[in-house]
Amino acid sequence: MLAIPPFYIKGTIESIAEELDAETVLVSPAVGMQGDADGLHYRPPPTGSVAELVAETAPDDVPVVGACTNLSAERLADLDVTFEMDTLVFGDSADAKRTVGDMVERLEGITALDAGPLANATEVESLTPLLINLARYNDDIDHAGVKFV
Ligand SMILES: NC(=O)c1ccc[n+]([C@@H]2O[C@H](COP(=O)([O-])OP(=O)(O)OC[C@H]3O[C@@H](n4cnc5c(N)ncnc54)[C@H](OP(=O)(O)O)[C@@H]3O)[C@@H](O)[C@H]2O)c1
Repeated sequence: MLAIPPFYIKGTIESIAEELDAETVLVSPAVGMQGDADGLHYRPPPTGSVAELVAETAPDDVPVVGACTNLSAERLADLDVTFEMDTLVFGDSADAKRTVGDMVERLEGITALDAGPLANATEVESLTPLLINLARYNDDIDHAGVKFV
């Protein structure tokens, strides 16, 4: 689970590349964002998305799955709050997506939705700054999440 700022992803994967193989699933929850006085703005790496940067950097046989990009860590950490939220799971390996989807659905209240292949990563990752900005500008929204119906 590459839960680190995007800037460090390439070097981190390179430093552990020898430990990765086809049995590993690399999960990318990271989103490229930059903040200013107005809020957070989506700033993907040149690959188009962080998940595609992960796939480009990792050894070819290692499946990469994007997940949890739109889940607030702070909200998940508050065990007194109940919620119903979706997280979008995306990647090119159906098996790896199923593995990650099953894993995130162990979190009570979370439903994993298949958002398609890694080529769809930009659309998914770009949701995150919107959610964070909504929480900033609306007093009645604590940590914004999404439930798709
Ligand atoms: N926070 C959220 O609610 C949330 C939700 C969804 C997705 N994300 C994504 O998850 C990623 C991490 O978010 P965060 O809130 O945990 O951010 P953060 O607090 O900035 O990230 C901390 C993590 O980055 C690691 N790190 C720092 N410098 C590093 C380096 N030079 N090389 C390798 N690892 C380094 C830290 O390791 P050490 O502890 O060893 O220093 C720590 O594990 C972000 O890309 C964010 O977009 C966050």
